[in-house]
Amino acid sequence: MSYERWKAVDDFVGELLVGADVPLDEAVARSTREGLPAIAVSPPQGKFLYLLARIHGARRVLELGTLGGYSTIWLARALPRDGVVVTLELDPRYAQVAGENFARAGVADMVEQHVGPALDTLRELRTQDTEPFDMVFIDADKQTTPEYFTECVELTRRAGVIVVDNVVRDGEVAVADSDDAGARGMRRFHEQLTESPRWSATTIQTVGVKGYDGFTLVLLDE
Ligand code: SAH
Ligand code: DHB
Ligand code: MG
Repeated sequence: MSYERWKAVDDFVGELLVGADVPLDEAVARSTREGLPAIAVSPPQGKFLYLLARIHGARRVLELGTLGGYSTIWLARALPRDGVVVTLELDPRYAQVAGENFARAGVADMVEQHVGPALDTLRELRTQDTEPFDMVFIDADKQTTPEYFTECVELTRRAGVIVVDNVVRDGEVAVADSDDAGARGMRRFHEQLTESPRWSATTIQTVGVKGYDGFTLVLLDE
């Protein structure tokens, strides 16, 4: 099975189940034009996040790793009118491009952007006693995922949902002595998931236009 096939299926699914979507297509185009790396979730994955947020009835969503805001737009669209996506990004230039994408997509008033290291922002949110989030999407630098997860659990309501992207990394997650720091982070994250009775979790491997990777879904206890 080849990457070409994975991409062909993503294209097929994207065409039929997502379709042409001017704001999202423009967000990708602007991000490409501005030189942002092409590492946003794929259209089928974006729609998956959107559907999950709707299934969960999410109103407050926290996202780590904005990039050009592609996944943010999907999440914002899933929320009621008084909903908000709080999204954290290290790179001010990426955040600016994302801000333009939010305005064009008509979701700017539903998105709260924070620029800086996500760990700092998460700790600030905690000291500010932020209203708990219903759903979290962790998609920033991969090696820090265990620390992000620990902080995010504290910021999420009971029975909240946490999705973590890029946890399989070409299968490197199963390699004990991997020299990929991101994969080692995701290994540590899985070990951390076994350590507490406070949640229920699974990991699903994926292939597609973004290659071979996967995501973890965590449901916090009531
Ligand atoms: N969620 C986006 C993709 C995010 S890519 C989407 O699917 O559309 C990962 C992002 O995390 C990059 O934009 C990168 O700049 C950002 N990032 C890396 N290290 C970070 C850190 N320490 N704090 C916050 N963001 C970080
Ligand atoms: C990569 C992919 C991602 O989805 C992401 O959020 C960050 C990095 C990558 O392939 O390098
Ligand atoms: Mg990702």
